[in-house]
Amino acid sequence: MHDKSLNIAHRGFSGKYPENTMLSFEKAVEAGCDGIETDVQLTKDNVLVLCHDETLDRTTNNKGFISQYTYKELKALDFGVKFGDKFKDIKIPTLEDLLGYCKEKDIYLNLELKNSIILYEGLEEMVIKKIHEYNLSKSVILSSFNHYSMVKCKAIDNNIKTGLLYEAGLYKPELYAKYVGANAVHPHFLSVIHKSIVDDIKAKNILINTYTVNDEKHMKTLINLGIDGIITNYPDKLSTLLKS
Ligand code: G3P
Ligand code: MG
Repeated sequence: MHDKSLNIAHRGFSGKYPENTMLSFEKAVEAGCDGIETDVQLTKDNVLVLCHDETLDRTTNNKGFISQYTYKELKALDFGVKFGDKFKDIKIPTLEDLLGYCKEKDIYLNLELKNSIILYEGLEEMVIKKIHEYNLSKSVILSSFNHYSMVKCKAIDNNIKTGLLYEAGLYKPELYAKYVGANAVHPHFLSVIHKSIVDDIKAKNILINTYTVNDEKHMKTLINLGIDGIITNYPDKLSTLLKS
């Protein structure tokens, strides 16, 4: 368990900068985050890249599935322009770009495997291989809404932490997490915002990292409940609260 809640920047400082870009990760670190949450997908030519959606439509100047483009093709696209003209010409980051950056800055990393819609073959093995290459096993937690994938990650390397993402009001999530063999639960914050639920999870030594907490009132409540990690689009606001 952590002494104080960790400030985890959701897709980087995505409240103010184009999500899941090196710019948003760097700005999150400047804003005082302890960790970064990001989403991992796979290109047509098996390069691990960071993007929330399976498709390009919402965040870029192109359309279609990431899985149907090569990395070289994706690199030619603009991942900033949809956030405003002043963010033009921002490239898609690779997982390696971020691993190198987090190693240099000593930043905690929550890698969410995006494998609920597209079951990218070999994603778990490829991600874990990269974590080993950068020697970052201790400062990474993997998460997914696909809990079969989290079981698979544990089978590949039991030393890397896993977290189970969910949105529903699961009954006794700590027992489920034990059953699945995960280290953490990653619920939507509204499903655990009661002291007895949090206490029961903590009593079983399961970490709790909640998403996506953007309102200061909710941040304060979760800090007081002793939540291990608070995932937010506004690491600046959370940083100020954690200092006070
Ligand atoms: O990992 C927390 C959160 O990012 C999960 O939902 O859709 O924002 O990736 P989503
Ligand atoms: Mg995510």
